[in-house]
Amino acid sequence: MAVVTIADQRQTLHDDAAIARYLAGIGIDYERLQPASPLEPQIEALRTRGGYSTADQIDIVPDTPGLDEMLARFDREHWHDEDEVRFVLEGRGIFHIRPSQGDVVSIEVEPGDLIRVPRGTRHWFTLTAERRIRAVRLFQNRSGWIPYYTGE
Ligand SMILES: [Fe+2]
Repeated sequence: MAVVTIADQRQTLHDDAAIARYLAGIGIDYERLQPASPLEPQIEALRTRGGYSTADQIDIVPDTPGLDEMLARFDREHWHDEDEVRFVLEGRGIFHIRPSQGDVVSIEVEPGDLIRVPRGTRHWFTLTAERRIRAVRLFQNRSGWIPYYTGE
């Protein structure tokens, strides 16, 4: 399950229900979902449910060419005109969220975590030391998924 850390409150959440409740309070949708096999019908169901236009998969391994440059685009605070929706299949990653009100929250996601960061939410993303993540990405409109940097 995910691990949620609110550093300013010296608080860490491990329980799925507590995590979903806390994240809902700052506008982030979070749920646990067993990846199905085959995966395609499940992706299609998620796409239809959320009204997303397209889906793809990212597959990052430590020796992915240009990985550092890719990560450098997203490890600074930014926002998009588009929801950032990820369903994690392998590996881990950390979403850092700066809510419009309240403390910065770090969400370390793992396989089976489905997260939606709504459009306009200030956030940044990092990998863990393993530098490994494979995830489904769902898009409303691919052209909206451009990072706007806040400079913070
Ligand atoms: Fe982003």
